[in-house]
Amino acid sequence: MKTSLLLFSLTFWSIMAQAQQPFVANMDESKVGNFTLPNPLQKPDGSIIKNKKDWEKHRGYWLAQFQQTMYGKMPEKKLKQSSQLVSRTEILGGKAIQYIWTITFEGKHSISVLGVLPNKSAKVPVFLGLNFCGNQTTNTDKRIPIFEKYVVCNEATQFKNNLGQAESRGAQASRWQFEKLIDAGYGSITVACGDFEEDLPTGYQNGIRTTLADQLGLKTEEWSAIGAWAWGLSSMVDFLETIPQVDAQKIILHGHSRLGKAALWAAANDQRFAAIISNESGEGGAALTRRNYGENLWRITNSFPHWFLKSYQHYAYKENELPFDQHILLSLLAPRPLYVASAMGDQWSDPKGEFLGAQNTEAVYQLYRKPGLGTVAFPGLNAPVGKQVRYHIREGKHDMTLYDWEQYIKFARELVK
Ligand code: GCU
Repeated sequence: MKTSLLLFSLTFWSIMAQAQQPFVANMDESKVGNFTLPNPLQKPDGSIIKNKKDWEKHRGYWLAQFQQTMYGKMPEKKLKQSSQLVSRTEILGGKAIQYIWTITFEGKHSISVLGVLPNKSAKVPVFLGLNFCGNQTTNTDKRIPIFEKYVVCNEATQFKNNLGQAESRGAQASRWQFEKLIDAGYGSITVACGDFEEDLPTGYQNGIRTTLADQLGLKTEEWSAIGAWAWGLSSMVDFLETIPQVDAQKIILHGHSRLGKAALWAAANDQRFAAIISNESGEGGAALTRRNYGENLWRITNSFPHWFLKSYQHYAYKENELPFDQHILLSLLAPRPLYVASAMGDQWSDPKGEFLGAQNTEAVYQLYRKPGLGTVAFPGLNAPVGKQVRYHIREGKHDMTLYDWEQYIKFARELVK
């Protein structure tokens, strides 16, 4: 009796002590350890998929695994959208037109969309991506309304109490590079992620998971914030299909960091995205979860519980038990062009894990005879590798920079035809 009491209190106090220890991310390559990745081509009965027809039949199995375990269900219903053009303004010395639209879903939930399109009538390919802190951060133009919901940014003058201020106009313009895109013949479309769901644990309360729950046919706890953002991206395709100046067959989806995670999940579910760019999407995005380096499953599900299903937390420190790893999420994008990018100063996102995530899509891209990364070694700085699946690590910090954009434009020119 006494021994079991002693054992109980020892265990109790050791658990308490562990729980109170600050999380220290492993940043030492020699401590990563060994792991085995699930084979995307292996079916539950052990047989191996040998051609694209069988892969296409099987990919729904993997999607269901991600839905049940990680990001939650995706609504299958399309909603009625009504759009209103709020303003149409010539910008960039007449080279481009800036559009602001309000889109309302089923008369219940409205969002504000910013579009910058070349000033010509021909259809153009567009880059589509969510922004973190409001459309006003992408450009200094005063006609863009200041986003009034919760934003992730909180720099003293530009954002106070996680709300955009007039000073935040253009604060993240370098992440958007509108002029570069226009000069290269592309348009750019963006919406604040918070227009679909604010990025905090209670964000679902006034986001689409609640406001459109009946119409979408899902309970809030059946999916996640990443799911809501991904659904938002797909709803943008529905909208862009109605815009005559946009070539909706050539939508290049991009996302930085948490919004890169959402972009990958959106494109896995929706094959209408022509190409996908994951910019430093890290843990829960392009980086392998089994690789213990940088942010891990325990940390991400504790810091951002709303991004995933609650049950995903059960895999903390049991990553080997996951039915998949993130290379399978990336494989679900095949045969479409895929660019995975990292930054040297962003070790938290595990650049090598992102590279390996991209590299391990090879078996699926091969089924389509599309060259992936092949057996190349981890590249040096600012030296992109691959073709249909491409990767770079650039110098500098966690961000989406001009260098990144130059590579993405080149990639789109070569592969989105
Ligand atoms: C945090 C988080 C990452 C995420 C990043 C971002 O660092 O831990 O998982 O990608 O924020 O979205 O900027």
